[in-house]
Amino acid sequence: MTTHLAELFESNRRWAAETERRTPGFFTSLLQQQAPQYLWIGCADSRVPANEILGLLPGDVFVHRNVANVVVHSDLNALSVMQFAIDQLQVRHIIVVGHYGCGGVTAALQNRRIGLADNWLRHVQDVRNKHRTFLDGMDDETQRLNALCELNVLEQALNVCETTVVQDAWERGQAVVVHGWVYGLHDGLLQDLRLTVTNAAEVAAAYGLALGALKTRHDATRKGGRP
Ligand code: CO
Repeated sequence: MTTHLAELFESNRRWAAETERRTPGFFTSLLQQQAPQYLWIGCADSRVPANEILGLLPGDVFVHRNVANVVVHSDLNALSVMQFAIDQLQVRHIIVVGHYGCGGVTAALQNRRIGLADNWLRHVQDVRNKHRTFLDGMDDETQRLNALCELNVLEQALNVCETTVVQDAWERGQAVVVHGWVYGLHDGLLQDLRLTVTNAAEVAAAYGLALGALKTRHDATRKGGRP
């Protein structure tokens, strides 16, 4: 254990030296101020690291992660991150990023008990229950899980749109765009779920369009017999 932790410090020193060698003054340039354009709200899963996936450096993306990328209206942690990102950092984009094969979403879908986190994942079960008819119409368990991972993104992005933080920003004319994306563990690629919201008046229609597209895509997959 000690050896492993020592290796982490060694690895960190190599990374810092390499970064400084590639871009002299990199770290001191970040001292003054961070000015990220993006707020990433993603899953805590170790396979879904925001900066690496986007190919971005320290300073480029503000990040909030939790189990199953859930946004709850009473979560002071997520709300504080959003408020700071919007009011102080003036981020232009808030991106909710889910991922296929999410353990939290799987547990929620299958009613699997994992402990205290069950209470957190109740929020994902709410998403499952809201779309139960659609999900029950699928025979393939993998497709059902993929669909719930996507639906969870749309619903959590909708929650972002409905926070006072985002509503207030739109009200005062601040340009903030909310997006819903999903990440593939199997190929390392991001997909846009076509949920893009730029103001309060657009929320319902944008959500409806994205949900319609999601359902059409899954219906086509089902009929086409593809996995
Ligand atoms: Co996950």
